[in-house]
Amino acid sequence: MKIAVIGSCNIDFVVESDRLPERGETLTASTFFTSPGGKGANQAVASAKLGGDVTFFGSVGNDPFGDDMLDAMNRVGIDTTYVQRVEEPTGIALIQLAEGDNRITVVPGANERTDRAYLDAMRETLATYDMIVMQLEIPMQTVETVVERAEAHQTILIDPAPAARLARHVLDRVDYLLPNETEYAIALQTDRSIEETLVRTRDGLLITRGGEGVSYNEAGVVHHVAPEPVDVIDTTGAGDTFAGAFAVALSEQMTLHEAVRFANRAGAQATTKKGAQEGMPRREQIDGTMDDTN
Ligand code: RIB
Repeated sequence: MKIAVIGSCNIDFVVESDRLPERGETLTASTFFTSPGGKGANQAVASAKLGGDVTFFGSVGNDPFGDDMLDAMNRVGIDTTYVQRVEEPTGIALIQLAEGDNRITVVPGANERTDRAYLDAMRETLATYDMIVMQLEIPMQTVETVVERAEAHQTILIDPAPAARLARHVLDRVDYLLPNETEYAIALQTDRSIEETLVRTRDGLLITRGGEGVSYNEAGVVHHVAPEPVDVIDTTGAGDTFAGAFAVALSEQMTLHEAVRFANRAGAQATTKKGAQEGMPRREQIDGTMDDTN
């Protein structure tokens, strides 16, 4: 199955410190590094590293960061033929790592140009893919237009991050929605608990719960998959890895339960190294450790 990931590219500027600075305070950090990121590119890389047949659709600037983004994707075998180079600078994310958590501020730049005009140019090409994967770091109009134009045979997977309300027609058409425990309430505009939301929702809603694993609904029954025991170094990109891995699993016709376990394991592995894409596992790291107990 051919997977099209439509989404963002950012160069991540990562600063690590023992704690976050107070308002108005200057704090000395312990580490700084840059790495390729962006929720779209991260999902594409996660899929490709796990064996997915992935093409990336999006925009980068005509700048060295744009080259870096394309290199990172090409290195893992992603087809970047349709990525457009634009005048706006490549997207940037400022990431603060402290106390085992991250805080991210994004400057979208070129990502804003993944717009309707770009989609018009890509329309026939996109129709040839079996699965479309999106997140919300590109204009919402783009996400809505892709959904409106999708062919009946195309599987649509949306990771609603960063959190935003999704239009009714998007929720009706999407095959798989992968919010985390805070995003689901905003994406679905609900104040119900996770369990209640899952019970009332048709199949295809999977809620990732960080240290509590993943919950999903199948035929009216709510299932919970426990978190994987790993030594967490950096959670940046873990949700993206989950989404990319889940797409690969579906493209290989795994059952929903198998696909969730596969993605859960991949997402956990991704937290064991610094950087969004650095820790994303290769296929053998997942297959070699899958068992039937979870
Ligand atoms: O999900 C992690 C990603 O969010 C980072 O790579 C950063 O670029 C932001 O898009």
